[in-house]
Amino acid sequence: MQPYQEFLAEILIDEKSLQARVKELGQQISADYQNQDLLLICILRGGVPFLVDLSRHISIPHMMDFMAVSSYGVGKRESSGSARVSLDLQMDIRDKNVILVEDIVDSGLTIASVLQLLETRQPKTLKVCALLDKPERRESEVPIHYLGFSIPNKFVFGYGLDLDEYHRNLPFVGVVDLDKYKPSE
Ligand code: IMP
Ligand code: MG
Repeated sequence: MQPYQEFLAEILIDEKSLQARVKELGQQISADYQNQDLLLICILRGGVPFLVDLSRHISIPHMMDFMAVSSYGVGKRESSGSARVSLDLQMDIRDKNVILVEDIVDSGLTIASVLQLLETRQPKTLKVCALLDKPERRESEVPIHYLGFSIPNKFVFGYGLDLDEYHRNLPFVGVVDLDKYKPSE
């Protein structure tokens, strides 16, 4: 696999800025849900680094659960339209305060279909926390109650976001130079 240095066009959000913003979001959520029960639902796999850091900055007791939806396959960079649940939650969310934790809202189709599904399970409240938002790409209007950063319409990677499943581990969000990036197949 190609080292990221070869196709990194620019660091869009550096580690320090990410950590500072995630801390603020954690503090805001802690204040908003004080004395209430809270369940964070992480959408696999991109939401994992964000969930882990966010959760450490949430000072109130809370639970976490995970679900996976497939809309983008490996090698595909466009949403296929509707998301299919490939791994469902373990927990019953009925009457719970739920926050969905996502890496990025792009077309919005993934979050829209997850919200639609989860609403049918009758949570007490259901909110969205996204690290990144690409508003220019929106096809489905979705609410983002907690947002890290709004970004331009560029393909990004790192801090959970993958390039053909690689580079999710990087501590920053970088822009891909698609002329220099060589997919492995
Ligand atoms: P949406 O359904 O178009 O909103 O797609 C959201 C999903 O697409 C995210 O959870 C990401 O996994 C993926 N995605 C969208 N934009 C990017 C990007 O710039 N880099 C990496 N993954 C992305
Ligand atoms: Mg992805």
